[in-house]
Amino acid sequence: MNLNKAKIIKFLKGEDEEELFNNASSLRENFFKNEVLLRAIIEFSNHCLRDCIYCGLRRENSRLNRYRMKKDEILNASKRVIDKGVETIVLQSGDDIYYSRDMVVDLIKSIKFLSRSIALTLSVGERVKDDYKAFYDAGADRYLMKHETANESLYNSLHPNQSFKERLNILYLLKKIGYQVGLGHIVGLPNQSLEDLAEDIMFYQDFQPDMIGLGPFISAVNTPLSAQSSPSMQLVLRSYALARVVTENAHVPLTTATITKSKSDSMAEALRISANVIMVDFTPKEYSLSYKIYDDRSMSSIEDMDCLIKRLGFVPSYLKGDSLKRF
Ligand code: 5AD
Repeated sequence: MNLNKAKIIKFLKGEDEEELFNNASSLRENFFKNEVLLRAIIEFSNHCLRDCIYCGLRRENSRLNRYRMKKDEILNASKRVIDKGVETIVLQSGDDIYYSRDMVVDLIKSIKFLSRSIALTLSVGERVKDDYKAFYDAGADRYLMKHETANESLYNSLHPNQSFKERLNILYLLKKIGYQVGLGHIVGLPNQSLEDLAEDIMFYQDFQPDMIGLGPFISAVNTPLSAQSSPSMQLVLRSYALARVVTENAHVPLTTATITKSKSDSMAEALRISANVIMVDFTPKEYSLSYKIYDDRSMSSIEDMDCLIKRLGFVPSYLKGDSLKRF
């Protein structure tokens, strides 16, 4: 369904919410029935050379315990994923160039060697351009790089020494290389207007990403935004519904940020109207506790998540779940 900016803003304000949620939930049901795809995430390093002012991993945060997982630790975590029967592994880290192109290529090949039926998603940030092709050729299938906000001046003010134009260039390059590409924005950034949020939705409509990871801003200690509050869950839910309506069949994870801020009724509502994916953490506990992107990050084991999904009336699926846009 194509929406213009004025209509999106109206929906974000809460006008015709029933119509919006009905449209979104019938698309969700059409494409994904009552299934929720589980993906395993391994957060292998919390070092980051960026300074995003909202993020607890920012370089300036000297109070964070930093860690880097070794190759065998990452492979062991991957084996645990494979043993559980989960068919997607997401490798995520801060922007950490300690892991050279060759190291990442070797890691991708090694994981693919453990199981050929695994889909591999990279979420390792901005790298030199040739890296993306090398990672794809080594076997990476998907790349998650949130655009964070589609307002260029807001983006540039939140990301010192980065540029929105460069971010966009990379996203289009990833698509051209052949990756299934994930975008995403944060709802509730300082100085973010409903018009800005409408731009995020317009961007999804135009780009048609394979995946959209959106969620509320949550404050993080030892960052410049530690005192900023989170947006209302209703605004987040409307954003979920709009992302579904303008992309129809994109995979939409119920992100950890949304789960962190949700009671079980809003989780169920997000799943009903839009979200069809949940990421489960396979990072070893001693590291995961230091992956403090924001405060009080919710984390659950695959067993707990499996139960919760069923309790909310959905059916967990461990299958690969490739993009419906190109496969
Ligand atoms: N609140 C919500 N999401 C955040 N992220 C980082 N910091 C925050 C925060 N304070 C998200 C960003 C980024 C990913 C690493 O985590 O979207 O892409």
